[in-house]
Amino acid sequence: MTAVPSSKFALRGDLLDFTADPGWGIEPGAAVRFRPDHWLLVEDGVIRGAHSSDAALDASWTRIDHRGRLVLPGFVDTHVHAPQLDVIASFGTELLDWLNTYTFPAEQRYADPHEAQAGAERFCDALLAHGTTSAVVFPTVHKVSADALLAAAHARGMRMVAGKVLMDRNAPPGLLDTVESAERDSRELIERWHGRGRLAYAMTVRFAPTSTVAQLEMAGRLMREVPGLYMQTHVAENRAEVEWVRELFPQTRSYLDVYHRHGLLGKRAVLAHGIWLDDADRALLAATGAQIAHSPSSNLFLGSGLFGWRALEDAGARVSVASDVGGGTSLSMIRTLAEAYKVQALQGVKLTAWKGLYTATRGAALTLGLDHEMGSLEAGRMADLCVWDWALGAVGERRLAVATGLHERVFAWMTLADERHLAQAFVAGASRFRRESG
Ligand code: GUN
Ligand code: ZN
Repeated sequence: MTAVPSSKFALRGDLLDFTADPGWGIEPGAAVRFRPDHWLLVEDGVIRGAHSSDAALDASWTRIDHRGRLVLPGFVDTHVHAPQLDVIASFGTELLDWLNTYTFPAEQRYADPHEAQAGAERFCDALLAHGTTSAVVFPTVHKVSADALLAAAHARGMRMVAGKVLMDRNAPPGLLDTVESAERDSRELIERWHGRGRLAYAMTVRFAPTSTVAQLEMAGRLMREVPGLYMQTHVAENRAEVEWVRELFPQTRSYLDVYHRHGLLGKRAVLAHGIWLDDADRALLAATGAQIAHSPSSNLFLGSGLFGWRALEDAGARVSVASDVGGGTSLSMIRTLAEAYKVQALQGVKLTAWKGLYTATRGAALTLGLDHEMGSLEAGRMADLCVWDWALGAVGERRLAVATGLHERVFAWMTLADERHLAQAFVAGASRFRRESG
């Protein structure tokens, strides 16, 4: 792949990004920055600024002309499982049966280094082909699968947060570690990858039912010991799961509290789902700074429930959006946002294009503590950029042709577009995806 077009290029298109959280209103306030037909300047992988014309640019700037297309910061997917591309779109189950029937058998394949490497490369390339330049990712319990995933992200210059999955009970033997092996493997992986290039390590507790108290304690100990570690897990996704956690941890006030008691909640904690929470849980999330990775296509597909975004935000807690493939049905963050709109609509809440796109870009960067690096088209940020067609085909073209205001246009795009609209993706200024049809 010819990754680097030039160390210095100007990209022409309709630039859209956010300077702050736009809130829930439809009017594009100061937080929405739309610069139609501008040139975005990129040098040495970093955004340098933007101009309304290229008149001031000398011949040292390579021109990449995507006029008439939309340029957004690359999407950030805060919760996705690399090995689960193999089980996406599996029929007929809710969470616990889905894990046992499809997911656990598929994840066992990743014990094999060749499978792990091929799967990791396929996954990273698929993320890029969907316009996702950065992600918080689960591999499997196998050290080799975490190694392969982090290596594949590193080779592509992607910002990735990942770590070997911790699970020492309630799963098939081929997917179990022990407290000792998990600690040893995690330490080795941290040594090799944490803070290397654009990578960070996450203590990855699959979910409370698959870790013993001793393993949760070990994870908490490493969180305290190693600066900058993330934590990722699942919480309160499905009612039968919540009930099971109540039986497994009878002394603990709530599912979320299991993680809190073991020192696993904090600003770098990313918990998927958070559907079945109460007010005390929401207050705990707000107090610790931990974020919920809302995964709408997964919640609909597995019949898990409807996520209460406003209640969490009103409580002061932080929310990002995620594909959760393979419970989720698409790696596309555009499709994910379209599903998020419908989940909110079922509860009488309307997700604007501004709030949705902000949450999948700058908002996610902010909740991960990485907004100094990515998530916007601000000068000084890494050039993680995606170039999108506004419409493909008669239906989308007609809808955009009759759209009046900017929100109507962008909302129609968020609802109708998908990964086929991606023309080109850049990671740190290097072209990592280019659609064959141009
Ligand atoms: N809870 C525990 N493991 C998983 C998983 O792989 N996917 C989802 N959606 N929920 C989980
Ligand atoms: Zn998940």
